Amino acid sequence: MEKIVSLSKRRGFVYQSSEVYGGLNGCWDYGPLGVELLRNVENEWWQEMTYREDIEGIDTSILMHPRVWEASGHVENFTDPMVDCKECKARFRADQLEESLCGNPAYKGRKAIKCQGEGKFTEARQFNLMFKTFVGPVEDDGSVVYLRPETAQGIYVNFLNVQSASRQKLPFGIAQIGKAFRNEINTKNFLFRTREFEQMEMQFFVKPGTDVEWFNYWKEERLKWFVNLGLKKEKLQFNQHEPDKLAHYAKDAFDIEYEFPFGWGEIEGIHNRTDYDLTRHEQYSGKSLKFFDEQTRERYIPYIIETSAGASRSFMAFLVDAYAEEEAPTADGGMKVRTVLKFHQRLAPIKAAVFPLVNRDGMPEIAKKITTTLRPHIRVFYDESGAVGRRYRRQDETGTPYCITVDSQTLDDQTVTVRDRDSMQQERISIDKILQYLGDRMDA
Ligand code: GAP
Repeated sequence: MEKIVSLSKRRGFVYQSSEVYGGLNGCWDYGPLGVELLRNVENEWWQEMTYREDIEGIDTSILMHPRVWEASGHVENFTDPMVDCKECKARFRADQLEESLCGNPAYKGRKAIKCQGEGKFTEARQFNLMFKTFVGPVEDDGSVVYLRPETAQGIYVNFLNVQSASRQKLPFGIAQIGKAFRNEINTKNFLFRTREFEQMEMQFFVKPGTDVEWFNYWKEERLKWFVNLGLKKEKLQFNQHEPDKLAHYAKDAFDIEYEFPFGWGEIEGIHNRTDYDLTRHEQYSGKSLKFFDEQTRERYIPYIIETSAGASRSFMAFLVDAYAEEEAPTADGGMKVRTVLKFHQRLAPIKAAVFPLVNRDGMPEIAKKITTTLRPHIRVFYDESGAVGRRYRRQDETGTPYCITVDSQTLDDQTVTVRDRDSMQQERISIDKILQYLGDRMDA
């Protein structure tokens, strides 16, 4: 993980938030390559989920009426048990003492659990994870609102608005990408557990009785999505929640887990939320949220199958999975270890780099012209500094699938070399075929 965190900073994927002030725990900033990768992940998800007949998109506000969170059960139930260590004064989740490390420098690297046997923890108390703030100038109980801890509730309260505007019939879904906030007791493992993060959630409304079938369908679809975007199959697994570990709203739940360097961790949850959420919003708002089935003339509250992925956690899984160190031949016939990010081409932040072999004989001009021609179609990077081998290595580290080099032969026959990131093989192609060449490979 240390190598990945360091590469992330060096190459402009992720920075610590407010770093010049010492950072803010649990918050991260996405740099030029990071924001591109994050958008590519989100665009892939958006395309997968909403470019189909039965799912509509939405973008709801982060601040919502406070009753939403009473109805959803978050005010009452969205808590973690918290303990303080009397020895090092650090605060821990009582149910995560096994993984948490002691904050006292005297016990550096020691697991928090070690303190427990010695009776050094306070009694566990419940801590609500929602961030509170106030609307308007008066900071009293009547003006409290919360930063949403999940994007899902914005979908539920708009269920009938979307259904009637889009004239969808059951089953159909509503998808949303957006920020969520949780005041986690312990943030950890880079982007894995943060206080501000992005979710990609889809709520699929179905007729009660068909929920198990749709639950199984979405479980498989969501796993396939990660595999199709390049995550290694053997690094993915399902983990079904034990009945006593189910969230307050769920009848059944599976996590899709990825094997990070620190162990298996959830990247997406698939939940059968039953009619819990819509029933509660009916009760708390006093407004009907029933669906009217014109065919059967029935009126009922649909069941909801939720697919809830963390965009930031998926980002981290794609980054970790792409990272490789491998032996590669050098120009002088030796071997050297190269670091390469083997992103799926659709996720790669930069799709192609263009180099003049040397900075003379008109090569930079041709390379710049190629860059300008490609730029409206793909994210492309021009680089003329340093030996070409070093330029290849720099692009490998950012995960650029193709490097196009203009050399002396280009001046004679208008061809360039295109180097493939993974095989490191080069092909010679005509300048006017570059776009088609890249397009064919990216579609494939
Ligand atoms: N609407 C259901 C829901 O929010 P969840 O399992 O609490 O379910 C869904 O969260 C996903 O959101 C997780 O699988 C994870 O990818 C992401 N997530 C949750 N808490 C997070 C945190 N503190 N930091 C980063 N991602 C988080």
